Amino acid sequence: MNPEVKTSKPSTGSEPTVRFVPVPALLFLLFGVLFYFGQLYLDRYSGGFNAKVYEPYKSWKMVQDLQPKGAGDVLFAKGRKIYDTACVACHQATGLGAVGIAPPLAGSEWVLAEGPNRILRIIYSGLSGPITVKGVQYSLAMPAMGHDLNLSAEDLAAVATFIRGNKEWANSASPVTPESAKAVLDQVKDRTTQWSAEELNAVPVK
Ligand code: HEC
Repeated sequence: MNPEVKTSKPSTGSEPTVRFVPVPALLFLLFGVLFYFGQLYLDRYSGGFNAKVYEPYKSWKMVQDLQPKGAGDVLFAKGRKIYDTACVACHQATGLGAVGIAPPLAGSEWVLAEGPNRILRIIYSGLSGPITVKGVQYSLAMPAMGHDLNLSAEDLAAVATFIRGNKEWANSASPVTPESAKAVLDQVKDRTTQWSAEELNAVPVK
């Protein structure tokens, strides 16, 4: 008998059957690893699924940071620099001032006034004598910072914009334009005495 012929013949034993075969655990592991790296990839390159974010940028913030800044942002950044050199020693980085040294700018009704007319005068020519800020009376003196440092109208506008609009201090008053600072500067340029709060209250707030 030829054994080859025998095996090629269909027999009842070789019918296809349905049965459960265990999937190799390694396959699960492989999918797990693929999934993990897939997530890592998305995390890194999906740009938060924002349609406006393309390679090589990775996030909307990165794209936004590269946009040309508005005039207000430039002024604010300049104001921060001036603040950090000319004001921070007394009014502090927190804008909260310090006991016996300076009143707060954060939440100050003088800083957040409708217009910057009065604070521009304080910044340029200084301030002395009693002043009430957030319900507390101070009787200290601030030097004529603007005059002494020879700040330009743009510098004054910048630092006023910074203290009025500093979100870290929860301040959100309108920015100050160099034009409005110039209008004030033209009036007070030659003034050599510090302001008093009483005198300032007679100056229109905007
Ligand atoms: C040497 C410390 C000193 C420096 C520097 C200084 N200030 Fe003052 N500032 C004071 C004091 C003190 C007062 C309150 C004066 C008073 O009691 O009459 C004051 C008051 C103020 C006020 C009004 C009151 C308030 O708290 O809102 C503003 C606005 C202000 N300063 C802004 C500035 C800015 C902006 C700068 C930087 C350009 C600056 N100051 C630099 C000490 C300082």
